[in-house]
Amino acid sequence: MYLFKRVRDLQAFLQPFYDKNRPIGFIPTMGALHDGHLSLVRTSSKVANNVCTIASIFVNPTQFNESSDLEKYPRTPAEDLIKLAKAGCQAVLMPSVEEVYPSGLNTKVEIDFSKLGSVMEGAHRPGHFEGVAEVVKRLLEIVQPTHLYMGQKDYQQVLIVRKLVETFKMPISVEMCPIIREKDGLAMSSRNIRLTPDYRAKAPIIYKTLQDAKNWIQAVSIDELSQKALSQLEAEGLRPEYFQLANAQTLELIADQNDAKQIVACVAAWAGDVRLIDNMII
Ligand code: PAJ
Repeated sequence: MYLFKRVRDLQAFLQPFYDKNRPIGFIPTMGALHDGHLSLVRTSSKVANNVCTIASIFVNPTQFNESSDLEKYPRTPAEDLIKLAKAGCQAVLMPSVEEVYPSGLNTKVEIDFSKLGSVMEGAHRPGHFEGVAEVVKRLLEIVQPTHLYMGQKDYQQVLIVRKLVETFKMPISVEMCPIIREKDGLAMSSRNIRLTPDYRAKAPIIYKTLQDAKNWIQAVSIDELSQKALSQLEAEGLRPEYFQLANAQTLELIADQNDAKQIVACVAAWAGDVRLIDNMII
């Protein structure tokens, strides 16, 4: 596996693949890699027909709305590189901030994401998706992959990136890959290592509540369902920020079961000072 710190070196490496129109799979990450990330790499390198699988590790400063979250973000580059090589990755880009943002951090992608950007994570983390869109656009322009692999774990992020790719007419297919969970149901996340043992034991209530929602939706109204879910999370000692049901395609919040053909339940909750998110198509 090759490690690139400079964009132009990675592009020189990729030139023969561009010349022959070969499929290139790309997995952007912020590092502190776990099996969730690696499942995306394996899908690209082993399941799909890509002749080359590229990952990036870049803790993007523009998508953190709290500087303390950026500072506390776990960084494990040495372990990450070993894991990526084992998962079948051919090259990794680990750029500096200057390499990704040569003219400074104050540039923004101009797109109206409408509901996709204004509900749930968009409402609770102002500026977050602008930062994600900006960095993903830059990374896609750098790598020029044919296939982009992203996790359902960040459902709203995948829809935002699909809209970005569509708006800029990038010839890239965006693949949404399933959420990888711990044995007890907790969705894998780089933030999980910051959970205290007590909160680690409590956190699987998030997955349980999503599963319960799947049953509750047959019997109660959407409003009641959200209230039941919030109460269940609070009773376990978590501090939920939201538990919302939305149209799985547009992310418009729904008020009634019949408002959408496919419904996604999305949740964000604090376990101590760690913010966790999860979702499920119900
Ligand atoms: P990061 O949180 O490192 O996640 C990188 C990719 O791994 C994302 O597509 C995310 O959805 C996926 N992922 C994380 N946990 C997962 C799990 N348990 N199961 C399946 N996939 C999982 O998301 C980002 O980084 C950044 O916003 C990024 C897109 C890299 C832009 O900076």
